[in-house]
Amino acid sequence: MTAGADHTSTANAPLTQHLIRYGMELHPKPIAAAKGAVLTDVDGREILDFTSGQMCATIGHNHPRITAAIAKACDEAIHLFSGMLSPPVLALAKRLAGMLPPSLGKVMLLNTGAEANEAAIKMAKLATGGFEITGYAGGWAGMTSGALSVNFAAGRAGYGPMMPGIAALPAPNAYRCPIRHCCGKCDTTCADVGFDMLDATTTGARAALIAEPVESVGGIIVPPDGYWQKVKAKCAERGMLFIFDEAQTAFGRLGRNFAFEHFGVEPDILSLSKTLGGGLPLSAVATSAELEADLYDKHFTHVTSHVSDPLPAEVGLAVLAVLEEENLNARALEMGARLTAGLTELQARYEIIGDVRGFGLLQGVELVKDRETKEPDPALGSAITRRCAEMGLSMNIVTVASLGAVWRIAPPLTITVAELDRGLAILDDAIAEVLADRGSTSREAAAVPA
Ligand SMILES: Cc1ncc(COP(=O)(O)O)c(C=O)c1O
Repeated sequence: MTAGADHTSTANAPLTQHLIRYGMELHPKPIAAAKGAVLTDVDGREILDFTSGQMCATIGHNHPRITAAIAKACDEAIHLFSGMLSPPVLALAKRLAGMLPPSLGKVMLLNTGAEANEAAIKMAKLATGGFEITGYAGGWAGMTSGALSVNFAAGRAGYGPMMPGIAALPAPNAYRCPIRHCCGKCDTTCADVGFDMLDATTTGARAALIAEPVESVGGIIVPPDGYWQKVKAKCAERGMLFIFDEAQTAFGRLGRNFAFEHFGVEPDILSLSKTLGGGLPLSAVATSAELEADLYDKHFTHVTSHVSDPLPAEVGLAVLAVLEEENLNARALEMGARLTAGLTELQARYEIIGDVRGFGLLQGVELVKDRETKEPDPALGSAITRRCAEMGLSMNIVTVASLGAVWRIAPPLTITVAELDRGLAILDDAIAEVLADRGSTSREAAAVPA
């Protein structure tokens, strides 16, 4: 999602004549087809996709295994009564439990990331008897009311009170250290300070902390070594459950099935979404058999119209099969190294690139006015992003207040070498053109937020 979308422009008026505008600057042309890493608009123009749709199409758009899975479900069953299970649901639950450690061996299948986080939050509240939920500055958890309460990147203003008992920790941002005096030598002091604040404000009814292992909308924040170990231990000391939200990071993007494997920290509850459905709405929540039994005894209820639906489960099975068959974890690391090398080379030539960071095929590029002051340059970033789209490359810039202006680069893991290189070349040309224009045209012309 993109913070600070343009709410006033009339440029999209013909497209949105019958649509409610929801806070995104829209691509000027409808997209007629999506295949692999390439989108084709209604005029037949191709656009390379460096965002995997909305960070979901990790195995590429319309992968033949996904379309076959949909066809299979159409022959068998698409949707059932919530009290009925089907072979694909049982198979996907077994498959996920087999990929996860025993401490996360019980799963429930839902649809969106926000819905999975709602379920995770409710599970934590019921299990602990508390209600205080802590998130992260810059974190994204979803747009429904409970998830929005711990969604600190954007979209909070104007909707009245959030859930009670909400707090946010500072993101462990090495480039913009929240604890200024340790800047330059990133350690885990920000976790100590954050928990000191929580301890000062708690009413004692703590329930959980929810975190993205690598914060994405918040600017691709990779925490320092030992950070998650420290945070998990602090949660355990305080009786808080530790929830990892792996909407964007699970199933290959960081070169592992799950990002928590990178950090060596297992959550008490795991939220999975986006990348599990490969473009269809499918999410899951996983926890231990012990917690599940406790919740069952306490009458945990989270019945939805599409809980345990067979069609998305069939698609989830196909996504996990492709992840393994096409060796996408290794591919993410290989292509990620190529992407990092390309971005670092751009950084060497363009002063506006203050930082390049990330893991595998989730890379962040921070745009600044000045490398010394690190003042963010969202207007320039938006102008280049727009130029990229005109030149055939779909890029996403996140402009979260005070955290900077960061391109979030996350192409499908199946992107070819030629496509990746073409995308980098377009980015290079777009930067050069916008910088050249900047001398001759008004700076304000580029100052429309994305
Ligand atoms: C980390 C994270 N969690 C949850 C969500 C919400 O998922 P959804 O939009 O499917 O509700 C998002 C969406 O961007 C996300 O990035």
